[in-house]
Amino acid sequence: MRIDGRDYRTIWLDADGRRVHVIDQTRLPHRFETVRLDGLDDAARAIRDMIVRGAPLIGVTGAYGLALAAGADPGDAALESAYGTLLATRPTAVNLRWALDRVKAALLRASTSERAALAYAEAGRIADEDVACCAAIGEHGAALIRAAAERSPGRPVNVLTHCNAGWLATVDWGTALAPVYKAMRAGVPVHVWVDETRPRNQGASLTAFELLSEGVPHSVIADNAGGHLMQHGLVDLAIVGTDRTTRTGDVCNKIGTYLKALAAHDNGVPFYVALPGSTIDWRLSDGVAEIPIEERGAREVTHIGGRLPDGGLAEVQVTPEGSPARNWAFDVTPARFVTGLVTERGVCAASASGLASLFPDLAG
Ligand code: MRU
Repeated sequence: MRIDGRDYRTIWLDADGRRVHVIDQTRLPHRFETVRLDGLDDAARAIRDMIVRGAPLIGVTGAYGLALAAGADPGDAALESAYGTLLATRPTAVNLRWALDRVKAALLRASTSERAALAYAEAGRIADEDVACCAAIGEHGAALIRAAAERSPGRPVNVLTHCNAGWLATVDWGTALAPVYKAMRAGVPVHVWVDETRPRNQGASLTAFELLSEGVPHSVIADNAGGHLMQHGLVDLAIVGTDRTTRTGDVCNKIGTYLKALAAHDNGVPFYVALPGSTIDWRLSDGVAEIPIEERGAREVTHIGGRLPDGGLAEVQVTPEGSPARNWAFDVTPARFVTGLVTERGVCAASASGLASLFPDLAG
C-alpha cells in the first residue's frame, strides 16, 4: 500500500537481510514512524505493546522474532525459550502459534549452522504467502460488494467494519478491507462505516488512516452507532476480521464484534468474516468456551490518546480517579450469526462442513 507516494509492507528487512523493520502502529494516525527490531526481545515487545498488531502481522512478526533469536543462538534450548517468549506475548490470535510452529519445525530439521538462514527464509515465505492470501480474499470479497452494488444501483455500497483488519493488520492488503480496496480499484462505489473501536481505537486511528491514504470514502462512527445505522437501511453488509476461527465457524475478533453481529442478524444485514486459513484453529469446536480471551491493562480503558492543538501527542484520563476498569480485548461471535467466511480459497458457510469444503487438506 502507498503512504506519501511510497509503497510499504508492514514488515520488511534491512539491506543486510537480518534486522527487521515495522511501522509503529501506536503512533498512527498522527505520526508515521518505523521501528527497527534488532533481536528477540524487540520482536516480543513489538507484539506485546502493539507496535504491530492484527492476527496475520503478529504471526509474521513472531516468525521473524524466531529468526532474530536463531541469529543470536541457534541451539535447541535457545530456540525453545524464544518460542515460549514469543508465544506468550498475545494469547488470542492463533496465527502466532501457527507461524512459530512452522518456523520451529523447519529449524528442528536442520543443523544449527543452517538455522538462522532457514528461519529468515521461512519467515519471508510466510510474509509473501500472507500477501497472496489477502489479495485472494480481496478478490472473493469484492464479488460480494459488487453483487450488493448491482442490487442498489446509483449509490455507493455501505460497508461497516470493526477494528482494523486492513493492510496494517497483515503484511499487505488486509483481510476485511482487502475486498473494499479491490472493489474500489474495479470501479465499484463504496463507502465504509468505521467503528471507532474503543478502547484502543484501531478503527478511528488505523482503519481511518488506511482508507484516507487509499482515497476510500468513509465515516468514523461511535462504536454504539452501528445498530442504529442497520435499522435505517444504511449498512449493506458488514465485513470484519478474525483472530481465531474454530473448525465449526465461530469467530473471535476485537471486542464489540459480537454486538455488531447481533444487530446485523436482527436487521437482516449480511455479516461476513474475512480470514486467511492460518486463522483457523482446527483443534477447536466451541469458540465461546475454548478460545482464550486476552485481558489487557485497565489503562487502555481509563485513558485515551490523541493529538493536541499544538501537534503534540498526549494521553488523557476519561474516568474518575479511583474507578476500576476491565479490558477484554476480544469476543466470540457464534457461527450462527455469520453469513459467510471469506477466505483465500473462496467464500463458505460458517460451519464445519463449509470450512471442510474449502480446506479438505487441513480439516482432517
Ligand atoms: O488487538 P488487535 O488490534 O491485534 O486486534 C485486531 C483484530 O481484532 C483484527 O480484526 C484481527 O486481528 C483480524 S486482522 C486481519
